[in-house]
Amino acid sequence: MSRILDGKWVRDEIQRECLPRVRKIVAQAGRAPRLAVILAGSDPGSEIYVRNKVKVCQELGIASEKLTPSESVTTAELLAAIEELNRREEVDGILVQLPLPKQAESRAVLAAIQPEKDVDGFHPVNVGHLVANRPGLRPCTPAGIMELLRRYEIPVAGRRAVVVGRSDIVGKPMALMLLHQHATVTICHSRTSNLAEECARADILVAAIGKPALVRREFIKPGATVIDVGMNRLTDGAQARSLLAGAPEKLALFEKNGSVLVGDVHPAEVALAAGAYTPVPGGVGLLTVAMLMVNTIAAAERRLGLCSA
Ligand code: GUN
Repeated sequence: MSRILDGKWVRDEIQRECLPRVRKIVAQAGRAPRLAVILAGSDPGSEIYVRNKVKVCQELGIASEKLTPSESVTTAELLAAIEELNRREEVDGILVQLPLPKQAESRAVLAAIQPEKDVDGFHPVNVGHLVANRPGLRPCTPAGIMELLRRYEIPVAGRRAVVVGRSDIVGKPMALMLLHQHATVTICHSRTSNLAEECARADILVAAIGKPALVRREFIKPGATVIDVGMNRLTDGAQARSLLAGAPEKLALFEKNGSVLVGDVHPAEVALAAGAYTPVPGGVGLLTVAMLMVNTIAAAERRLGLCSA
């Protein structure tokens, strides 16, 4: 029997631990921590993500504000908005929801955020802190995965970890965090030859490539821990029926709703080989926002001189 790693439980624990920290900031600084989110354009996925971020802020007593420039916003306009947020003393965290409209230069925009307020951990200074294993704001999704491994007491030191995907947001920082916890880390990507063979050596396998159900039974070493970062919505009937032939529950959801959410790991085959795994939905996806709250609180504590870290 493989164990399901419950993202909801980890999220609830993380968020519960936020409450006394927020209360302490309010008591000592006379104001709540504050997150500013920039949502440019009207990407439906981004709108849902941002709405959820604002909602969780409210639940935890974190102040938030949303800037919504239009789809045609220029890089200069975004830079001006960030300058203003950098200047405002009561803003602790700044998040620019990605992807930005195509004319906007994401790199320049992200690099303009004051590193102390960079709650996504994407600024080159924070990337440098991560590489050097110094304190700093860390990207939320891989930080959430480390929290999940820790809270489920899954050992990392000395284990073989394979990260599939080399994005700046998940794959690269994930590999570094596992390395800093003394795993032996391999990064695989779209040009890796013998992907299944590489993956099958992993004690901890992290799939973050954005390809639905790519990781099959033969990719998984028996007993391995499998972390699925994928969030792929299947809308094509032929693709759904072919990928989900062995996953009747998912297929039934597709037939009922006309679409279904599938991770990068095959939803039925993972249970046949893994010792423990994160489901989709209900796994890693829930942790990203929780860690954004942690980063916002940590940024506030740091800026207000309320912690030693
Ligand atoms: N778009 C997809 N993932 C993320 C994320 O972690 N942060 C931001 N800002 N945008 C995203």
